[in-house]
Amino acid sequence: MSGVGLAITNLRIFQSFGTVVAIDRDHGMLQKAKEEAGDLPDLEFKLVDARHLGEFEKESFDYILALGLFAYFHMHEVDAVFSQFWRVCRQEGYLMLTNATMHPKDAYIKSGLECGFELIRDKEGYCPAASSKRRYLLVFAKRKEHSHPD
Ligand SMILES: C[S@@+](CC[C@H](N)C(=O)[O-])C[C@H]1O[C@@H](n2cnc3c(N)ncnc32)[C@H](O)[C@@H]1O
Repeated sequence: MSGVGLAITNLRIFQSFGTVVAIDRDHGMLQKAKEEAGDLPDLEFKLVDARHLGEFEKESFDYILALGLFAYFHMHEVDAVFSQFWRVCRQEGYLMLTNATMHPKDAYIKSGLECGFELIRDKEGYCPAASSKRRYLLVFAKRKEHSHPD
């Protein structure tokens, strides 16, 4: 889970399906998340910047969740971030991202496709609990038949 913040409920849910690696570049956020998660098994917290995933092996994750993360990147960084996610995502794995609608969905879709992901879901929704209530959800898949430009 990339940019974990305090998404502890998500961690609890996903951790029931296998090992979850929760990364955040903010030490304070990571510390709070660790404390709130308590001693859940199969959960690793790492102080890592999603723009630099070199410490992870190629194709090491089945699912990559970037919930509310892309809003933190400058547009010139987005292609590089997709490339990082592509490298660590397994074949037949998925990358899911959510953002508030004011962030540039089309640019993210373009970048994901150019990187070699296939877009399998593009959905808009409403979240009454969030400050920016309109949101979108993009799900990309890494398919064998889609080759990476590198
Ligand atoms: C809006 S919060 C979302 C938190 C959580 N994913 C959720 O859905 O509630 C974004 C989080 O991403 C983290 N973040 C921002 N830029 C990052 C980066 N380059 N690498 C890793 N984490 C980052 C922030 O520190 C923050 O905790």
